[in-house]
Amino acid sequence: MERTYIMTKPDAYDRGLIGQIITRIENKGFKIVDMKMMNLDEDILKEHYAHLADKPFFPEIVEYMMSAPVIGMVVEGSGVVDSMRKIMGPTDGLEANPGTIRGDFANNKSQNLIHGSDSIENAEIEIKRFFG
Ligand code: CDP
Ligand code: MG
Repeated sequence: MERTYIMTKPDAYDRGLIGQIITRIENKGFKIVDMKMMNLDEDILKEHYAHLADKPFFPEIVEYMMSAPVIGMVVEGSGVVDSMRKIMGPTDGLEANPGTIRGDFANNKSQNLIHGSDSIENAEIEIKRFFG
């Protein structure tokens, strides 16, 4: 069965939106098969966001992602990788349509509440990274 790695970000924790995010995943009929709260360190974030390492905002992402706990989840279902990206909405909350998590709750492109794997291949890499 297809799986993806979903992670609520520190702003979801700070704003008390974790329950609403989880509810949207469950409402869609996807199964949360593993879940844990973590405080991420710089090493794992440099690995996870390696594709952004040369961007000027990279230090801010690392700082933000370490500012409060995250909830990592393995979510399972047919077509779950692409479907979760649709449920999340695009990176920038201002561009995201209402009805998406980012469209309903985020208003910028850095503090955008949720991470979701962007391909089946990356999903397996990220599940291994965060769940071993
Ligand atoms: O999270 P998503 O896959 O939609 O976007 P990404 O391009 O993989 O970027 C990862 C994360 O870096 C974003 O979700 C933002 O939190 C952050 N980011 C940012 O702060 N400013 C940008 N211009 C782009 C991304
Ligand atoms: Mg990404």
